[in-house]
Amino acid sequence: MMVARAPGRVNLIGEHTDYNDGYVLPVAIDREIHLYVQPRSDHRCILYSETLDEQIEFDLSQIPSPSELPKGWIRYVAGVAQMLSQHAGRPLTGIEGVVASTLPTGSGLSSSAALESACAVLWNTVDDLQLPPTQLALLCQQAEWHYAGVHCGIMDQFASLLSQPQSALFLDTRTLYTEPIPLPSEWVIVVADTGKPRTLAGSEYNERRAQCEQAVGEFRALLGEEISALRDVSPEQASLYLPLISEPARARARHVIGENARVLAFLDALRSADKAQVRALMLASHASLRDDYAVSCAELDAMVSACLNAPGCVGARLTGAGFGGACVALVAREQVESFIQSADRAYRVLSEYTPQFLVCEAVGGASVATVGEEWASGSAESD
Ligand code: GLA
Repeated sequence: MMVARAPGRVNLIGEHTDYNDGYVLPVAIDREIHLYVQPRSDHRCILYSETLDEQIEFDLSQIPSPSELPKGWIRYVAGVAQMLSQHAGRPLTGIEGVVASTLPTGSGLSSSAALESACAVLWNTVDDLQLPPTQLALLCQQAEWHYAGVHCGIMDQFASLLSQPQSALFLDTRTLYTEPIPLPSEWVIVVADTGKPRTLAGSEYNERRAQCEQAVGEFRALLGEEISALRDVSPEQASLYLPLISEPARARARHVIGENARVLAFLDALRSADKAQVRALMLASHASLRDDYAVSCAELDAMVSACLNAPGCVGARLTGAGFGGACVALVAREQVESFIQSADRAYRVLSEYTPQFLVCEAVGGASVATVGEEWASGSAESD
């Protein structure tokens, strides 16, 4: 028997920058997806989800195309299998088992990336593919593009696969350079879920991406071929040329260019546990996502204000794609209980949705362990 685990993630800052070649700073959290499986002697993939009380089954030697699959979690599993076996040039080994999860879905904590990552590390081990985590992350992203229809960036898969314990993961999405940034031990991460569900696969995410591409095209016409992503537009160039860009691309670009600068400033602020600076940067990020990127909503705004007014709050902002879901707050560890009480009360006055607060620790990226002698001796078969 083998167990593969992969964490969800919360992003501290750097939102909607990852598909613009920019910077991000996510944290893998101790809310995870676990796959408990036995390898099979054939090529069937049979998985039962405890959370959903639902079983999926398909043939790994003839993986169905996305259009042949119903919507839902089967797409992530089949998508990863397809990308890995395409890469390996052979069908993957069959597996049979159970998916268990402590990671809420639909809150913007990347449950889909966690499921992809768990499948990826599992088959990487079972089939001895020896792919490094960076490569697995890129293949998981391809799975999401082609099987879930979301043209996502690379942040979530990197966070789930490459994070280090007690640290945030700085990622330059252009070069794929990563660096663990230790979190101040006196602060704790609280995920403040608004209770308002969001659907990332909705057209809005892909539409924002297209608007950024529009901005890149217009900047290139003004500044030349060296502009291949919004990452290439400096804050100085932005202040001169943004007024010439058409709306809404202009507002979207203003967010992305400002957000990249905020991530870099945040690294220093986090390293020195500079409360005032962390707060200012998180607030500026939220305001920019609300006003320029237009991905906030009444519930996210209400949650941010409820958190900011609660005791011990260092900073708070919406996290993930937006359009509902959760906020992230950094909170003084010794005040976390009164923080939650106060933010919960304040949010309930402002919203009809029921909030949920998760106190999170930063964990390491996805891993696999073997359990029991059968597998360790290499003689595991399906029963
Ligand atoms: C989703 C995507 C990520 C990223 C965020 C927004 O989580 O999967 O790639 O774009 O939205 O920052």
